[in-house]
Amino acid sequence: MTQLLLTGGAGFIGSHTCLVLLQEGHNLIVLDDHSNSSPVALERVATLSGLSASAESSTERLQLIQGDIRDSTCLGKVFIDARNAGKPIEAVIHFAGLKAVGESVREPLRYWDVNLTGSRCLLAAMNANDCRTLVFSSSATLYGYPKDVPIPETAPIKPINPYGHSKAAVEQLLHDLAASAPNQWRIACLRYFNPVGAHPSGKIGEDPLGTPNNLFPFVSQVAVGRRTSLQVFGGDWPTKDGTGVRDYIHVMDLAEGHRAAIDCLLAEPAQLLTLNLGSGQGASVVEVVRAFERASGCQVPYEVVARRAGDAAITVADPSLALQRLGWRTQRSLDDICRDGWAWQSANPSGYSDQQ
Ligand code: NAD
Ligand code: UFG
Repeated sequence: MTQLLLTGGAGFIGSHTCLVLLQEGHNLIVLDDHSNSSPVALERVATLSGLSASAESSTERLQLIQGDIRDSTCLGKVFIDARNAGKPIEAVIHFAGLKAVGESVREPLRYWDVNLTGSRCLLAAMNANDCRTLVFSSSATLYGYPKDVPIPETAPIKPINPYGHSKAAVEQLLHDLAASAPNQWRIACLRYFNPVGAHPSGKIGEDPLGTPNNLFPFVSQVAVGRRTSLQVFGGDWPTKDGTGVRDYIHVMDLAEGHRAAIDCLLAEPAQLLTLNLGSGQGASVVEVVRAFERASGCQVPYEVVARRAGDAAITVADPSLALQRLGWRTQRSLDDICRDGWAWQSANPSGYSDQQ
């Protein structure tokens, strides 16, 4: 039983990972400022895993602390309190950050502050408290417009927006840190492809604020009747049907990838691992729409409009290194993704605010 700190653990990927880690037997502390999440998510995680935590109370297994990763005093206290309670934090999964590409173009200072300064504060607190095991949420956005697809981890890092630049900067910082203290840091940079779907219970899922930027939550909201139709950004890409192709990964597969990464880091000598987490399969926008219609039984009307600035035609992972190093590969199909995404969206048409 390991004591883990999850920054941003109340968010979309964090909440699903919490569930998987609790089921594995780990004890969790979640530090989240709720700038993009609801405490209800973790109440539901607690219920799903047989615990009875509420947003205010804490249990031995799942403790929620509201705080900002840029607040060094708060971070220091989290480590010290855990140590004083006889359960020092052994590893950190660092989800907390901002992730909207368009917003990052408009507000680069905020993105660099939360994503880079926040990570620097966290790493300083970890170092000061002798905790040097970290899983970092990186992104396929680092690859920009990839030349070779499927994309191996050795592909050039060429981000094309401030969000991607901030993730690349954190990866560089992690390399510098690992090099500064040989044989001390155990780090996994996990480059996620397109995380989508929800827990099959339909109790937890993605709950974007305002109009979704991403395809999958937009399609779900059209199917449930919150929006009238989807705009498909470009029908003239050099792909099988002219629409953009992405590697969609079920969020539960992604959560299980984090469990595998933590197990690997804790079992092996100090190292810095960089791994793609994707399925290796590409699906076009139209294929996603059709799969969602099959799963939901609802129509998803769409119109093809101009390409969105900054999009690549095809982004698909080469996930073979994750299989080799972690023994992990995706288990769930696009149909599973749509079935579980629909279970969440149809039961929570307005997300967590339905039950608040
Ligand atoms: P999310 O917004 O649902 O979760 C992020 C969480 O971090 C939220 O709960 C938010 O309240 C919290 N947070 C933000 N700023 C904070 C701060 N300063 N202090 C404390 N908490 C803070 O996003 P997600 O989809 O779960 O993504 C998690 C991580 O994975 C992010 O770092 C993101 O960049 C990365 N990532 C996401 C995707 C994706 O498509 N969802 C793809 C690649 C990488
Ligand atoms: N798309 C539409 N209409 C929409 C939204 C998207 O046609 O309303 C298309 C896009 O043009 C693209 C595909 O659907 O072809 C997927 O777009 P998303 O916005 O869902 O995802 P992206 O691949 O652009 O980017 C996402 C995250 C990034 C992350 C990246 C890789 O937004 O932060 O996946 O993980 F880095």
